Amino acid sequence: MKKTILTTVAAVCSASSFVHADGKAAFMMCSACHGADGKGLQVGAKKMAPTLAGSAVANGDPSVLALAILKGIKKEGVEYLGVMAALEAVYADDQKLADVMTYVRQSFGNKAAAVTKEDAAKFRAQWKDVKEPVTRAKIAELANKAAE
Ligand code: HEC
Repeated sequence: MKKTILTTVAAVCSASSFVHADGKAAFMMCSACHGADGKGLQVGAKKMAPTLAGSAVANGDPSVLALAILKGIKKEGVEYLGVMAALEAVYADDQKLADVMTYVRQSFGNKAAAVTKEDAAKFRAQWKDVKEPVTRAKIAELANKAAE
């Protein structure tokens, strides 16, 4: 019995570290602005992008995170040097989208639920008609809706 449990634990652990490795690779693109540590790459006095540690968008309703990744965020301020571009073409593969989302949600101290390939496909279909980067106002509206 004990042996069975240990074997199961070992299998689950190696499976999850495998996903993690893929997620890390998928996050390479993001780290150009958000930094390998997810805290936002510092360039001089400014950052390229905000921190993803504790981010409500990263940790909240995963469909909103998918929307931000797929369609980008409209640049309205000058706080950050970078622009959250639409990365749909880079994450055209559902597994890759799921991997990067899970990585962001479970790294840098974040502890949100994982995203499956099926979820990723669902979010992609959900937002297929969105043609422009989302505004912060839209993100906030969607996040509030999900919290209701
Ligand atoms: C070229 C630079 C750049 C790249 C690459 C990039 N981002 Fe961003 N990201 C930004 C900037 C800039 C913002 C802030 C947008 C704003 O609010 O104006 C941002 C915002 C975000 C936010 C919202 C954070 C919050 O709490 O408001 C999330 C989540 C996010 N990015 C995730 C990602 C993920 C995941 C990737 C890779 C798949 C990625 N980003 C790639 C620049 C980038």
